[in-house]
Amino acid sequence: MVRIPSNIQDLVSYKPGKPVAQIVQELGLKEWAVLWNNENNLGPSPKALSEIQSALALSHLYPDPSAEKLCSLIAQENDCTSANVTVDNGSESVFDCMLRAFFEPGDELLTCEGTFVAVYIWAKANNVHCEKIPLAAGYQFDIDQLIASVGPKTKAIYVANPNNPTGAMISRVELERLVHSVSKEVLVIVDEAYFEYAKALSEEYPDSFQMRRPNVITLRTFSKAHGIAGIRVGYALGPQPLIESIRKVRMTFAPSHLSQAAAVGAIQDVEHVQKTVEVNRKALSQYYGALENAGLSYTASFGNFVMVDLGSEEDAKQFVNAMLHKGVFIRHLRAFGLAHCVRISTGTVQENDLLARSLASL
Ligand SMILES: Cc1ncc(COP(=O)(O)O)c(C=O)c1O
Repeated sequence: MVRIPSNIQDLVSYKPGKPVAQIVQELGLKEWAVLWNNENNLGPSPKALSEIQSALALSHLYPDPSAEKLCSLIAQENDCTSANVTVDNGSESVFDCMLRAFFEPGDELLTCEGTFVAVYIWAKANNVHCEKIPLAAGYQFDIDQLIASVGPKTKAIYVANPNNPTGAMISRVELERLVHSVSKEVLVIVDEAYFEYAKALSEEYPDSFQMRRPNVITLRTFSKAHGIAGIRVGYALGPQPLIESIRKVRMTFAPSHLSQAAAVGAIQDVEHVQKTVEVNRKALSQYYGALENAGLSYTASFGNFVMVDLGSEEDAKQFVNAMLHKGVFIRHLRAFGLAHCVRISTGTVQENDLLARSLASL
């Protein structure tokens, strides 16, 4: 028998639920809203689609391994050079590369419970111990405890800002406190997957890359506000020596030729992002009102989703099921370690209305 390492034995491969079309058919739904994956339901950036069309004819060639056009556009947007940027098949892939690029046996990753579940999975897959401390009141990252918990084995701290699934934001003051309190030998990974949404929602939202610290890496993605989650492009911004180390372990030809083209289109589609964040802003206030009217408790969000606290796992499961029967597909947060909570993404105007009507008729 081939021996499977124990860290891999402990993991479970991703088991997708039933496809939406099947659920729609089984329940005989006349209308529905898919609000379980924090996607951009307004659809992909039209400029991304047109760039893919133009790039199709060169599909027989390997992509540009340095993704120079895309990296330089990202650099332009962030006031840096391409040497400060690396792209990959989604920011999850960049994170995986970081675990391989920076961690040696015995090094630990420090983060909180109740954050992006893939972080725990990729740490385990790479045999990196993930030290998790509880979230603070209001489902916030506990900055004081993170600072206090840094030990000799801590190689990196991971925070998501805003956090998925709680939606909570780390303010500029708090993030600066974290970054300035830890040794420059400790890497601080700031996952800003919902950057565009958060920036539009709060002036207190910090751009971690602009702190220009030698030990901070910022993760961003085209999966959310730009609407190309299915195309898989994410990136890291940071100091050149750290970015160069990530590049050393990434797949040579990632992202694909079509993915690079899509992201080149998406990043220039300011209109699509603006429309997206505006629909999201309205959706969040509509959600808050509908949740309050339904007597439900939620955490104010800086992303394209809201976390609702149902008080118990049983009530959370029942709520997910009741919403499913009304055609609203939402996420139970057991896998995130928050079994008493659910997460509802924002959608199109019609989908947001269905959510509000469904809450009103519970
Ligand atoms: C905090 C956070 N980081 C990263 C990702 C994944 O991004 P990508 O699609 O670029 O891998 C998500 C997706 O839900 C997320 O919530």
